[in-house]
Amino acid sequence: MVPVLRFDGKVVVVTGASRGLGRAMALGFAEAGADVVVSSRKQESCEAVAAEIRAAGGRARAVACHVGDWAQCGRLIAATVESFAKVDVLVNNAGIAPVPPSLLGVTEDLYAKTMDVNFKGPLRLMALAAEHMAPGSAVINISSKASLRPSPFTVVYAAAKAAQNVLTRAAAQEYGPRGIRVNAIVCGTFHTDSFHRSAPTEEMRRDLAARVSLGRIADPDEIVGTALFLASDAASYLSGELITLDGGGS
Ligand SMILES: NC(=O)c1ccc[n+]([C@@H]2O[C@H](COP(=O)([O-])OP(=O)(O)OC[C@H]3O[C@@H](n4cnc5c(N)ncnc54)[C@H](OP(=O)(O)O)[C@@H]3O)[C@@H](O)[C@H]2O)c1
Repeated sequence: MVPVLRFDGKVVVVTGASRGLGRAMALGFAEAGADVVVSSRKQESCEAVAAEIRAAGGRARAVACHVGDWAQCGRLIAATVESFAKVDVLVNNAGIAPVPPSLLGVTEDLYAKTMDVNFKGPLRLMALAAEHMAPGSAVINISSKASLRPSPFTVVYAAAKAAQNVLTRAAAQEYGPRGIRVNAIVCGTFHTDSFHRSAPTEEMRRDLAARVSLGRIADPDEIVGTALFLASDAASYLSGELITLDGGGS
């Protein structure tokens, strides 16, 4: 039987879901039938996305969570289980990429925040979510091409995402015997707020697009198909993989 990318009756938690790639994935999973927990730091922004899902006939709950905070990670998973009794899919999407001027310009605060949001949070959320996952469940970590090809300005972010890649492979081994798959999407460049902050002018964006094989920067919606595939039974034998989604490379 050919598996279909439907998620009716499945519970999907997406962090960083108020904007950008997270919002696109939250809406995508909802359209595919899932009950979605929409999370980011700001309750109001999550409520707006949850309302969008409900207006389209789906089920959603908004739960604020700063993923760099150990206790808030616990509250996000507890709230999910309280509302929906289980977790089928966790999408560790929330991330930050502050740019220090130089290695000497890396402050202790920038270092701690970058590692906490991009690595500590995904680790803690995955560990907690797995306690409520049945065989067939999946975790998707949203990583970055920077983790494979770092530059001095992105060193802390790149290292945090490289740690997330390691987490993906290690967790796939730990949870494999329980039938839980763990994969990462290693993102190239997408039109989101964080990208537009790092490339503020049209000229910069054109230059970056010209280096991509497909000749353009991706729309946020273009992550949805890969996320649905990785979370679905169509990927039932795929675990511990880093899937690069970058328009054919640069
Ligand atoms: N866009 C790209 O080109 C690109 C490339 C490579 C990798 N990525 C990765 O893709 C993911 C999404 O990026 P994006 O471009 O969609 O980012 P974005 O547009 O800046 O959105 C970030 C999202 O994360 C939330 N967020 C920020 N800090 C948070 C925290 N501490 N705890 C919980 N939520 C937090 C934000 O909402 P609140 O402000 O309400 O918290 C927002 O919903 C990130 O992991 C990023 O590293 C993106």
